[in-house]
Amino acid sequence: MHIVGMSGSLRKASFNRMLLQAAGELMPKNAELEILEIGHLPFYNEDLDRDGAPAQVQEFRRRVAAADALLFAVTEYNYSMSAVLKNAVDWASRPVATSGLKGKPAAVMGASGGQFGSVRAQLHFRHVAVFCDMHMVNKPEIMVREPGKKFDAEGRLTDPDTRALVGELVQALCDWTQVLQRGRASANA
Ligand SMILES: Cc1cc2nc3c(=O)[nH]c(=O)nc-3n(C[C@H](O)[C@H](O)[C@H](O)COP(=O)(O)O)c2cc1C
Repeated sequence: MHIVGMSGSLRKASFNRMLLQAAGELMPKNAELEILEIGHLPFYNEDLDRDGAPAQVQEFRRRVAAADALLFAVTEYNYSMSAVLKNAVDWASRPVATSGLKGKPAAVMGASGGQFGSVRAQLHFRHVAVFCDMHMVNKPEIMVREPGKKFDAEGRLTDPDTRALVGELVQALCDWTQVLQRGRASANA
């Protein structure tokens, strides 16, 4: 199973990127995580999208479409997801008929400096996911607060409770992906 992950933060020492890396380590045996870069994508502009999107967007869309499932690590900026992540979702959501987000199993988690560990950004993300027709895993919820205490100097997630939750989330995402894939296969048989 091929899972594609995206982090909402471009910061070198981003806790959300570290969270994704931890998810990569904790994947079930039958799954792998590819972390996609999104900072090089231009701002979404319908003019750019009219006669074939820029090459980097086409490649990004191809990788999203090829994924069995998606995993988002949502940075919270001003009570919402970061612009860079929303921009990536906007590109991936078009053209609607061929969007790689449509019908895709997905999960969200996040880390933030505030008291609520990115919960407001995650709720906004879930709202957007409805319109993009992603099928989100509901539980477990992962809101990492005080991230500076949960990762070591090398960026490894060391907090045992958070590691356990991340392991549960990636397992839930893989299980949910299998449920959807089997359902589609039997519907098409
Ligand atoms: C512009 C900006 C807005 C922020 N707004 C929030 C916020 O609304 N809630 C929150 O918990 N943290 C907020 N923060 C703190 C970030 O969550 C914190 O810097 C976090 O570590 C960023 O994620 P990263 O480590 O993946 O880069 C904000 C930070 C910035 C730069």
